[in-house]
Amino acid sequence: MKHAGKLITFEGPDGAGKTTQVSMTARALEQSGYAALIIREPGGTRLSEAIRRLLLDPAYREMLPVTEALLYAGARAQLVGEVILPALAAGKIVLADRFVDSSLAYQGYGRGLDLEMLHLVNGFALNKLGVFRTILLDLPAGEGLERLAGEKERDRLEQESLSFHQRVRDGYSLLAQTCPERIKVVDAGADPQSVQKQIWEHVAAYLADRAPGASF
Ligand SMILES: Nc1ncnc2c1ncn2[C@@H]1O[C@H](COP(=O)(O)OP(=O)(O)OP(=O)(O)O)[C@@H](O)[C@H]1O
Ligand SMILES: [Mg+2]
Repeated sequence: MKHAGKLITFEGPDGAGKTTQVSMTARALEQSGYAALIIREPGGTRLSEAIRRLLLDPAYREMLPVTEALLYAGARAQLVGEVILPALAAGKIVLADRFVDSSLAYQGYGRGLDLEMLHLVNGFALNKLGVFRTILLDLPAGEGLERLAGEKERDRLEQESLSFHQRVRDGYSLLAQTCPERIKVVDAGADPQSVQKQIWEHVAAYLADRAPGASF
């Protein structure tokens, strides 16, 4: 095996540039000789995509925060078992467009669910995943939503109030302060090339660094 597999997750508020940067990072990795695999959350397996449709459909106004949190964790458990673990075992660099920190930021800080419970449920969902690294694309909540304006119809979470998105952004910042080893903060307000440059430094350091650490 040329490289040991690793998981790098991309997080940040809506419109921060996650999808853009995941795809630029995958290209850069492939050019450096790595096999990269992009996954998106919620989704990435047949079952998880079905759960995604439930989660994002604006028709389900009655969805309770706890139901939302458990559905995300269920979609995540399936993705870990069916896709992420096999890809890591095959030596791939897995790039996740959102992962567990989205649950902590949106359902924890955004909706006000108990963070300890979210950690427990997600620890169960992650099973034996082990360590990973996280790139946090930091951008004021309103700026991300402005980038998305007019681009597509807003899903159930994007339709939330600006104060909800503000709590999500602040929650992400708190998570990054709590886990500085795992979560690397990048200024997402810069142009895409400059953002990618910041990300690549963290990615290169992580791929060179084989030291074990806490999972999340
Ligand atoms: N650094 C940037 N500066 C300005 N605009 C950007 C930047 N990066 C991405 N964009 C644009 O902003 C919009 C949102 O980008 P993108 O879809 O990558 O964000 P996202 O974080 O994946 O959003 P979502 O949370 O909706 O999935 C797109 O129109 C994209 O072209
Ligand atoms: Mg996206």
